[in-house]
Amino acid sequence: MSEEVGPEAVVLGEVVIPAEKISARVGELAEQISRDYAGRPPLLLGVLKGAFVFLADLARAIRLPVELDFMAVSSYGAATKTSGIVRIVKDLDTDLSGRDVLVVEDIVDSGLTLSYLRKGLLAREPASLEVCALLVKRGQQRAPIDIAYTGFEIPPIFVVGYGLDVGERWRNLPDIRAARGEGVELS
Ligand code: IMP
Repeated sequence: MSEEVGPEAVVLGEVVIPAEKISARVGELAEQISRDYAGRPPLLLGVLKGAFVFLADLARAIRLPVELDFMAVSSYGAATKTSGIVRIVKDLDTDLSGRDVLVVEDIVDSGLTLSYLRKGLLAREPASLEVCALLVKRGQQRAPIDIAYTGFEIPPIFVVGYGLDVGERWRNLPDIRAARGEGVELS
C-alpha cells in the first residue's frame, strides 16, 4: 500500500546532478536525436507533469522541426511508491498512426508506467516508438524496459527538481537534488 507524503514532511538533500551537467547532457541527447531522426522529424510526446522542464530544453536543442503533444498519467497520486496502476489523466490530441513517436519521460523507476504507456501507444500504430528518459534508477525496474536515449543512471534514491516533485513541490529547482522524508520513506 502506498503511503501519502505531505511536502512538509520532506527535506532537501544533496545536489545529485547540477544544472550545468543536466544542460550539457540534454545537448548531447538532442544532438543524437537530431542525427537519428534526420529527414523524419519526430512527434515528441511529453509525459506530464514531470517531463515539462526536460521536454522544453530538449525540444529547443533538437535541430529538426519536431511536433509536440502531451499525455498526463498518474501512477503515484500524492504518494511516492508506484502502485503499478497507471491512469491516463490527459490523453493526446494527435493521431499517432504512421508517426515517428519519441516519448519523453522524466524518470524511470519501476518501469511500470513506461511499459503501460508503451503498450497503449503501440496499439495506435505509430511508424516507430522510442523512449528518451532523463533519469533511470539503477536496479529498480520490475518490467522489461527499452530506452533508446537515457540522460543519467542514478542510484535508487528519491529525487526532486528539474520537473520532478514531491507533493507537487520543487519542480522548479534548476538542479536535481535528493529528498528525504522526516519519519517517512520516499524511495
Ligand atoms: P515507475 O512507474 O515506477 O517507473 O515511476 C515513474 C514515475 O514515478 C515518474 O514518471 C515520476 O512521476 C515518479 N517518480 C519515480 N521516482 C521518482 C523520484 O525519485 N522523484 C519524483 N518522482 C518520481
